[in-house]
Amino acid sequence: PVMNDLAGRQQQERELAQRLGIAHCTIVPGDSTAANGSLDGLAQAAGQVLMDQMPGGHSTVAVMGGHTLATVADALTPALAANRDLLFVPARGGVGESPAIQANTVAATMAEHTNSAFRQLYVPEQLNSATYKSLFAEPAIHEVLQLIAQSNVVIHGIGQAFVMAERRHMDPHVIADLSAAHAVGEAFGYFYDDQGHVVSKFPRIGLEIGDLAAKQLVIAVAGGAEKGAAIAAYMRLAPAQTWLITDEGAADFVLKK
Ligand code: F6P
Repeated sequence: PVMNDLAGRQQQERELAQRLGIAHCTIVPGDSTAANGSLDGLAQAAGQVLMDQMPGGHSTVAVMGGHTLATVADALTPALAANRDLLFVPARGGVGESPAIQANTVAATMAEHTNSAFRQLYVPEQLNSATYKSLFAEPAIHEVLQLIAQSNVVIHGIGQAFVMAERRHMDPHVIADLSAAHAVGEAFGYFYDDQGHVVSKFPRIGLEIGDLAAKQLVIAVAGGAEKGAAIAAYMRLAPAQTWLITDEGAADFVLKK
């Protein structure tokens, strides 16, 4: 039965990857958005995939924020950097969420847990374009933005549109627009509908979804039946090499659709 379970799981992972049009999926037991759900299984699996897939030598690893990524950060160990030289950077600016789940914190925690280096990007979440332009020109910010642009590995989360809009304290009229446009999910500051059409993009600095295609390794970590629609729709935007680490809750949602 153990063999069959393993073979069955691998078969399901292939099916899910095929359905989503991406390179690989890893499915862990459980449903992380259920009342008794946990992010630990996703985090452990992410740690293992990183151990197996992270290129040797030097890598600059750009990471997003969120509870899932914060849990992944806590699960990393020095073994990941034992024969590698890693630099962790936040993938985008956005010092708007709780400190514990900001991309800066995730990057610093990943570095701490692996005895690696990190850099921080101190840029608030919602600024007008003129302010952004002058920030770009600041040498300290420009330097980190260049490291982000040069990153070869990206690890990110995926969220539900309205959960994210509320977490970021967006204006009611912006939320109403997202609702009128049938937004279902959010990743990298992009809100998108069921078909993976971007309905809204907030001006932030750092990585854009369009930059991902050129990256050596792109890992998305997101699970839970409640996130199923957001995960499935994001994969219509995602680069083909994306490796999704998810759970049965989300996988069943997608495969039964
Ligand atoms: O805000 C950063 C971010 O990575 C979003 O892009 C994503 O939608 C969200 O966090 C995922 O957060 P969580 O893991 O808490 O669901």
